[in-house]
Amino acid sequence: MKGIILAGGTGTRLLPLTAVLTKQLLPVYDRPMIFYPLNTLVKAGIKDVLIIVAPDYSGSFLNLLGSMLRPYGINISFVVQKEPRGLPDAFILAEDFLDGEAGALVLGDNIFEDDFVEAIGTFKEGGRIFAREVPDPERFGVVEFDSMTGKVLSIEEKPTQPKSKFAIPGMYIFDGQAPQIAKSLTPSKRGEIEIVDMHRAYLNQGKLDVRVINGGYFDAGTPDALLEASNYVKAHDFKSRFHPDIEKAIAEFNTEFKRLVSLRTK
Ligand code: TTP
Repeated sequence: MKGIILAGGTGTRLLPLTAVLTKQLLPVYDRPMIFYPLNTLVKAGIKDVLIIVAPDYSGSFLNLLGSMLRPYGINISFVVQKEPRGLPDAFILAEDFLDGEAGALVLGDNIFEDDFVEAIGTFKEGGRIFAREVPDPERFGVVEFDSMTGKVLSIEEKPTQPKSKFAIPGMYIFDGQAPQIAKSLTPSKRGEIEIVDMHRAYLNQGKLDVRVINGGYFDAGTPDALLEASNYVKAHDFKSRFHPDIEKAIAEFNTEFKRLVSLRTK
């Protein structure tokens, strides 16, 4: 399976931080945020990753990640999203990259402790989303499901009376139909195509299932969540949960960076 990271957007809830740096390059403890969704995909065994970025910061992403993981057999490519058009736009921009295959999309500001090896390894067709129990489901997209079969029964956006305590986090696995489905969607009132409409399209086909996750999970899109994510990473030895290839690649990048700096100062 191929992987996609959606790392554009405007990040208005993090202004003024995001006036000077794109959200997904802001620090989460000791590394730019983008390494967390990248790690989620690499740990799940994915070797081909497409990163979707906003125009202003494409050079920074390329400098950091353009060739870092190639020695480890992980190919990273980039595509620019000119303006935020909604989460399903990831599958439209990734159409050539996916080339008819299934794809796992992770949002660039979503930090997961769980691993997705089983969920990706057993995926066959349709759509697969995830469910994370939260104390305040009315703030999220909420999924109701059959706990025996994992079949999704209903999905509601920010419901006043949630049918379950399970929020839908930013990791979605869709089969080869995803680009076509995304293209068929019409923008909502806020002018974006909505991921919940992709879910509904698969739900209507009877092909949407769900897996429950239990580990630490952060949608690091607000100042509080960004701080909580950093504190959690520091307190929970999260570093040991990075794939060894990513750790090695970062160490090599740092060594090379220091070498180039010392050359410049000689
Ligand atoms: P959001 O957090 O929903 O949007 P945002 O990052 O623009 O932030 P804000 O609401 O504070 O203005 O987006 C979730 C993730 O998806 C985040 O990593 C940005 C990314 N994204 C895109 O890359 N393109 C898009 O069109 C959208 C809607 C989001």
